[in-house]
Amino acid sequence: MVGPLESDHTILAMSEKIEILSDDFDPTAVVTEPLPSPVTNGGGEREMVLGRNVHTTSLAVTEPESNDEFTGDKEAYMASVLARYRKTLVERTKYHLGYPYNLDFDYGALGQLQHFSINNLGDPFIESNYGVHSRPFEVGVLDWFARLWEIERDDYWGYITNCGTEGNLHGILVGREMLPDGILYASSESHYSVFKAARMYRMECEKVDTLISGEIDCDDLRGKLLANKVKPAILNVNIGTTVKGAVDDLDLVIKTLEECGFSHDRFYIHCDGALFGLMMPFVKRVSVQSSIVITLTVL
Ligand SMILES: Cc1ncc(COP(=O)(O)O)c(C=O)c1O
Repeated sequence: MVGPLESDHTILAMSEKIEILSDDFDPTAVVTEPLPSPVTNGGGEREMVLGRNVHTTSLAVTEPESNDEFTGDKEAYMASVLARYRKTLVERTKYHLGYPYNLDFDYGALGQLQHFSINNLGDPFIESNYGVHSRPFEVGVLDWFARLWEIERDDYWGYITNCGTEGNLHGILVGREMLPDGILYASSESHYSVFKAARMYRMECEKVDTLISGEIDCDDLRGKLLANKVKPAILNVNIGTTVKGAVDDLDLVIKTLEECGFSHDRFYIHCDGALFGLMMPFVKRVSVQSSIVITLTVL
């Protein structure tokens, strides 16, 4: 877990555990990736350039010749490429700061499953015609999260996504399907996948200001809701923003919607819990009202 250092005591405790810039630190193992300069037009505004392929660092994929024989040299070369890559990962992980997620995991026990083409295609609650799946695990994880969030077993639906982005795309899509002319409201500190969803689904989108903490500013939300009262509202509420870890006040968001005259059938809320959706129930009670549709992304 990487997070802010709170006191001298914490710094001391950390420095005892982590040896900073130890002898085995190899700065050359950390490859810097130069970013392309932004393209600007005559007026100095940034321009979107499509199809520009900027190569910085890449490994060439070589096709075997038809008469190629697999030799020990190739095996050794592959092993060296992977070893170098592993070294880069070790170095980068050691000095990785900035995202508040857990770095203390070991998937070693799952190594024995790498030889199977496992695919949980489709709805986990509908029997699949593809037999090589892990649905009992998938549904078990969903039930566990439902229990954690105090949702009745029969009161939820969900599936395990490959990432937080997919969770946001799915949650917002459900909102758009329920309220096709709804406007998407999201704070300016929401993850970029939320705004990407608006573009992908061609939804109108209102970016809402944030407080200094990074939480959604409900006064600004109120103004924007009132200006667009004729259309339903689809809200992205953050349970942990990417940079500040800010948690939007869900109760205040719902109160603001109600005070602006949005009845429960004219708004939909998606919570992006990619960062804190897992830990929030242990920290603070967040009420989930059953008459309101709420989708949740948890990473
Ligand atoms: C708040 C938030 N939502 C969504 C995402 C997207 O997650 P992923 O990178 O797994 O697609 C992130 C990633 O950092 C995030 O911080």
